[in-house]
Amino acid sequence: MATLELQNLRKQFAPNVIPVKDISITVHDGEFLTLLGPSGCGKSTLLRLIAGLEQATKGQILVGGNPVTSFSPGDRNMAMVFQSYALYPHMTVAENIAASLKIRKTPTPEIQTRVATVAEKLGLSHLRDRKPGQLSGGQRQRVALARALVRNPEVFLLDEPLSNLDALLREQVREELKQIFSEQNKPVVYVTHDQTEAMTLSSKVAVLLDGLVQQLDPPARIYTHPANKFVAGFVGSPQMNLWSLNCEAGAAICGDYRIPLPALSEPPSAIDLGIRPEDVRLVNEGETPTVEGKVVLTENFGREQLVSVQIAGSSEKVRALIPPEQSWDAEKVGLVFEVQKQHWFDAQTGARLVAE
Ligand SMILES: Nc1ncnc2c1ncn2[C@@H]1O[C@H](COP(=O)(O)OP(=O)(O)OP(=O)(O)O)[C@@H](O)[C@H]1O
Ligand SMILES: [Mg+2]
Repeated sequence: MATLELQNLRKQFAPNVIPVKDISITVHDGEFLTLLGPSGCGKSTLLRLIAGLEQATKGQILVGGNPVTSFSPGDRNMAMVFQSYALYPHMTVAENIAASLKIRKTPTPEIQTRVATVAEKLGLSHLRDRKPGQLSGGQRQRVALARALVRNPEVFLLDEPLSNLDALLREQVREELKQIFSEQNKPVVYVTHDQTEAMTLSSKVAVLLDGLVQQLDPPARIYTHPANKFVAGFVGSPQMNLWSLNCEAGAAICGDYRIPLPALSEPPSAIDLGIRPEDVRLVNEGETPTVEGKVVLTENFGREQLVSVQIAGSSEKVRALIPPEQSWDAEKVGLVFEVQKQHWFDAQTGARLVAE
């Protein structure tokens, strides 16, 4: 058992540079935690704190219940994969994979067996005698991963390991990663700003902004129940439609239209409404549309089309994902926002208003 616990972690570089303010997260054996957030939100800093490459200003890090906060990186028994891979250029693939075991004075026959096993698992056996300069990006990425796996650490830390790969290779390696780590049964902390990686790989996702966790939940929950307006806008592509609307007599006013508010303890004077493009559809005959408007742009993705509609009586637009075979009157199209898929947020704090 090697549960990783982060308790009230804070890292302050300078009086006004505090990329990690107060973060507490627990990652159990076999859990895959992704740290997701925009550039500069503190993802790498948090990972480096866990690895011991940075010293925490405040807070504790525990592995299997034991504090490791004061341990040097070498004493933490964690393996880290860097975005740059950080391979030794003068060493062969096999030597690169073996390096950390050599430092730990592992007996040579054991090193040979472990390196061979990991190289086999990652499809590197035929490349063992090549140097990193003679490898493709994807192969280098695998060597970096092999180096982490061979150590059999208590915790895996990965900082954007796929960001140097092209889109197709990313998709392939993503699947491999998922399989490899599901067999390890160790805590994994994975940093990315790519939400597809976060959604497909993780058992839970921590969305970070301004040094704080905005939401910590399984990926599906983050998608269907974003905890606040930031998470709603950050997760999902195409992005969620979001508007700040005034309220009147139990409805939010959106251009010429009135959208009924959900049941709230107090009637607000203003509110934010979000709806994902895939939850907006063309109105059926005889049905009342939520809004109507003029089509200003159509983008065809093949599988579906993304239609931008200027809402009548408003300067706002709404984007809808519509099946490719459907057609409409471009001058006045009626759209329905599925009621169960509407997201309501507090106009001041941005917090989600209807939880469930
Ligand atoms: N050693 C340092 N000294 C001072 N400031 C630092 C240091 N390391 C990071 N920072 C600052 O902390 C903030 C967070 O940086 P960090 O590298 O953690 O971001 P990130 O979320 O990993 O971003 P990216 O997605 O671009 O990699 C940034 O504003 C950065 O400039
Ligand atoms: Mg980073």
